[in-house]
Amino acid sequence: MRRLYNAAVFFYPRFYDIVWTMNADELRQKFLDFFEKNGHTVVPSSSLIPDDPSVLLTTAGMQQFKPYYSELDPEKTIHPSLGKPIGKNVVSVQKSFRTSDIDEVGDDSHLTFFEMLGNFSFGGYFKKEAITFAFDFITKELRIPISFVTVFEGSHGVAKDEESRAIWKKLGVSDVREQGIEDVFWGPTGSAGPCGPTTEIYCENAAGGKAEIWNIVFNEFYFPGSREELLSGSSGKSLERLKTPGVDTGMGLERLAMIAQNKKNIFETDLFVPFFELLPSELPEREKRIIADHLRGAVFLIADGVRPLNKEAGYILRRLMRRALVYEYKYKISPEFFISIMGETISNYGKFYSQLVKESENIRIEFENERKKFRKLLPHGLIQINHHIALDQELLKKDSPNINKERALSGFQAGLFAFDLFQDSGFPTEVSKELFEQANYDLTRFEAGVLEKAKKHQEISRRGTEKKFGGHGLLLDTGELKAADENELKIVTRLHTATHMLQQALREVLGPDVHQAGSDITVERTRFDFTFQRKLTSEEIKQVEDLVNQKIKEDLPMQKKVLPKSEAEKTGALYFFKEKYPDPVNVYFIGKDLENAWSKEFCGGPHVMHTGEIGKFRIAKEEAVGAEVRRIRAVVE
Ligand code: GLY
Repeated sequence: MRRLYNAAVFFYPRFYDIVWTMNADELRQKFLDFFEKNGHTVVPSSSLIPDDPSVLLTTAGMQQFKPYYSELDPEKTIHPSLGKPIGKNVVSVQKSFRTSDIDEVGDDSHLTFFEMLGNFSFGGYFKKEAITFAFDFITKELRIPISFVTVFEGSHGVAKDEESRAIWKKLGVSDVREQGIEDVFWGPTGSAGPCGPTTEIYCENAAGGKAEIWNIVFNEFYFPGSREELLSGSSGKSLERLKTPGVDTGMGLERLAMIAQNKKNIFETDLFVPFFELLPSELPEREKRIIADHLRGAVFLIADGVRPLNKEAGYILRRLMRRALVYEYKYKISPEFFISIMGETISNYGKFYSQLVKESENIRIEFENERKKFRKLLPHGLIQINHHIALDQELLKKDSPNINKERALSGFQAGLFAFDLFQDSGFPTEVSKELFEQANYDLTRFEAGVLEKAKKHQEISRRGTEKKFGGHGLLLDTGELKAADENELKIVTRLHTATHMLQQALREVLGPDVHQAGSDITVERTRFDFTFQRKLTSEEIKQVEDLVNQKIKEDLPMQKKVLPKSEAEKTGALYFFKEKYPDPVNVYFIGKDLENAWSKEFCGGPHVMHTGEIGKFRIAKEEAVGAEVRRIRAVVE
């Protein structure tokens, strides 16, 4: 099938125009050969994890060459993978990853991972040569006509790019359009770096596929701040002349393949079709594209050493994998499909990126581990979101003074909720967003909600050496959970759920007069104070302990339901009289459903997902702390 596809003959709508298309492997090679022939050194792609600490992932071909424009001498510095200086003119095919468009993936043109074809010069050639190389490669090597080009209109103290316009005209490109700094001025990437005006090439094919395919940057300047600061014009920083002015170009391979292969969109090219052939045909197109993009990106990230984590590049990887896993679950796709997509990525790209083949076992293991982890959390996350949506629907119908109407269908509130859900169960916020979108939320302020909660979370985490965590930034029934790191957080979370279970067990063994009088959890133990008039017998202590351990053994789910306070009170859930609860409030319950739950409490979390995670529960001490208040210290082992 592949072979046939690569060798396919396409008939333009005008039947006499027959074209043999070039597959992506050929396009990469042609590009490298063309520039090598024209005096460029071929430099291998650098890792997706850049050396530059001010950027998370490699977003462009120029990333690995940044220092050559300002500090390093390309003719003297030994390049680590070539073992010799690279010289003034180089060419590369660079693995790149941009997160800025992650929410757009699924339409006709956006991707996270992509390959960037680029030629670069560090003080070698400039506008005339760069534009002529690009013109020759597109129109002569590939025989693709150029629709139009753009040049910089001038602003921020940089002159209009008359020179590029004149060069294009001379080459016979008559449609030269002017654009502003947002569109045709590159960089800097990260916190500072080279930057300059660009000229961009647009092409169109007979199938109706259109794209800006090549961005040619004239790095003339160095800006000592970020791109945002440059655009704002109010940072007080100004453009400086670059020590080594030069050229930096970027052409997305996927877009080029679309144009060259006469396709309407990038997903119809040979870079994606083999993936789609592996996916169940009944899957919606958008989901197919997201799965293909995300799994391809995940494979490349893992091969470069990224591991799924809750921060930085690890979080991006986790988002990619978990979003694909949500679809796997939702559409009941067999895990086999995903495994074969990963296999296809490795075999399709492994010829060019040998790292993928070397890392294939790690890729498989990481994916399996993440699937195992997430499949445990996934149903819980979906239930939570459905509860949130159902409650909003209720709120819309009702007319009670207790009800916070502002919350109903609010994207901002959904954003707050989505961040909590991510904290609680690693559920990617953009997957939540998608589910809210399907339920007709206005999500204009969704990101603002997520950010607000993330900020609060960060503040909480920053405080002192002991970081304080909470499902909702507020820890309602436990005083405060304190944890210095994720490991400790796991322990105090187990103790937290055990504390709910302890309260319920005490009420069953000693009677309903038992009420919480206070509590405190540290990484060593939970301390629970409750109303009761006498010392507990050792028999009673054993009964309480046994009951908690029995419920741990049953491995009951710990779940959360968000309810208007008035309704939450009616469920019989316990709450601590000293605490102020928000409205609506979280009711955490242990058992399959709220009505028949074994334990129910108002609470801010966090909690384990299943009681089995707690391990063994042991009461270490029982004593008096007041006339009618007892104190238990308990541990989990
Ligand atoms: N560095 C030029 C580009 O990525 O478009």
